[in-house]
Amino acid sequence: MQYSQKVLDHFMKPHNVGKLEHPDAEATEGSPACGDQISITLNIDPETKVIKDVKFQSYGCASNIATGSIITDMAMGKTIEEAKNITWKGAADELDGLPPVKMHCSVLAVDTLKKAIKKYEIEHGYAKAEKFSKQTIVEELKKVIYPGVGEDIVTLKMVKYVGFEDGIATIDVEIPKFDKYRDNIAEEIEEHLEAFDEIKEVKVTI
Ligand code: FES
Repeated sequence: MQYSQKVLDHFMKPHNVGKLEHPDAEATEGSPACGDQISITLNIDPETKVIKDVKFQSYGCASNIATGSIITDMAMGKTIEEAKNITWKGAADELDGLPPVKMHCSVLAVDTLKKAIKKYEIEHGYAKAEKFSKQTIVEELKKVIYPGVGEDIVTLKMVKYVGFEDGIATIDVEIPKFDKYRDNIAEEIEEHLEAFDEIKEVKVTI
């Protein structure tokens, strides 16, 4: 696997590793793509909403560790509003790129940071818990990465239909029959969506 020197540097000597003792915000997420996990803890100034400290613990691969390291660097000293704008693509760019099959590791790290911030905002009354809708499903599908090119299946216009009725999520995806990632994508969609309490059944047609 071809990694940039920056990925290797952050993997070998990651920044901000560990767990804050008294975090104001925290989240732990697992990747449906590989089963790996990452935790992020944050200390946030209640007045300025500036992230005073942030640490991560990764049980994932080199790409996940490198992304955890770079996004905690990027988030440190920022307001939570600014930190919410960190994207997995931005993190991958900061690392001078990631191999396409490893983009989901970056998605996992950034998603965990965003979840921690969202939980903080909801707990402190700065945001309301979002009402589950079809759009929630679409947003979740944007975290499913097609490993062939390292882009999400919504952006790649592989998702042809999204439906949600009576707890059943129906997703139609278009991927050529011979594509080696077909089964992985179907499985990953199911695992992403099954994590929602509102979804009782996932029907994926590929
Ligand atoms: Fe699991 Fe990278 S985080 S393969």
